[in-house]
Amino acid sequence: MTQDEQKRAAAQAAIPHIPIGAIIGVGTGSTANYFIDELAKIKHKIEGAVASSEATAQRLSKHGIDVLDLNMVTDIPVYVDGADEITKHLHMIKGGGGALTREKIVSAVARKFICIADQSKLVDILGTFPLPVEVIPMARSYVARQITLLGGHPALRQDFVTDNGNVILDVHGLQIMNPVELETTLNQIVGVVTNGLFARKGADILLLGTDKGIETIT
Ligand code: 5RP
Repeated sequence: MTQDEQKRAAAQAAIPHIPIGAIIGVGTGSTANYFIDELAKIKHKIEGAVASSEATAQRLSKHGIDVLDLNMVTDIPVYVDGADEITKHLHMIKGGGGALTREKIVSAVARKFICIADQSKLVDILGTFPLPVEVIPMARSYVARQITLLGGHPALRQDFVTDNGNVILDVHGLQIMNPVELETTLNQIVGVVTNGLFARKGADILLLGTDKGIETIT
């Protein structure tokens, strides 16, 4: 299977996890897009969706799926999203698409995080993929200096503004041995909105598309 076929297979494998009549949290990215296309096939069985980005909201709407404001929703049984890297402990790096803050907000409300990914995303140690950090624009240089003190090499993502009007620093050169601790530390830097480590609250299930079919890791 190609990488895209693995992504689509993982997206399809998430459908049996969708409760009837529920509001579904929906992530952002190419794997999440495959999921949206699959969700559209059962749209009459769900109440609607909460989107983690403007791009996802647009794709959901195009398919005729109701997009709900998170402030109007108290229960999201399931959030489905991809990842840039994930370990067997279900800690992730996310934010390659720049949607990390809204992804973290919607997944915080959700009772269960289902990660859908192709096999290239499974790693032993997080950090080969540069860690995205969303930053308030005026704090960009200060935050970059603080991250350098922690041993990272931040690079401003060029020509990119998040849905929240902020910038992204992609942090290279990290070998993240303790993702929970680093997630907490980065969040303490004034000017950081969110970092792309999803470790304090990681995934609950990983549906991994592989050459041999779907591998489920819990
Ligand atoms: C977007 C994300 C995505 O989940 C992550 O970048 C994976 O993307 P893809 O499914 O295209 O490989 O965190 O902010």
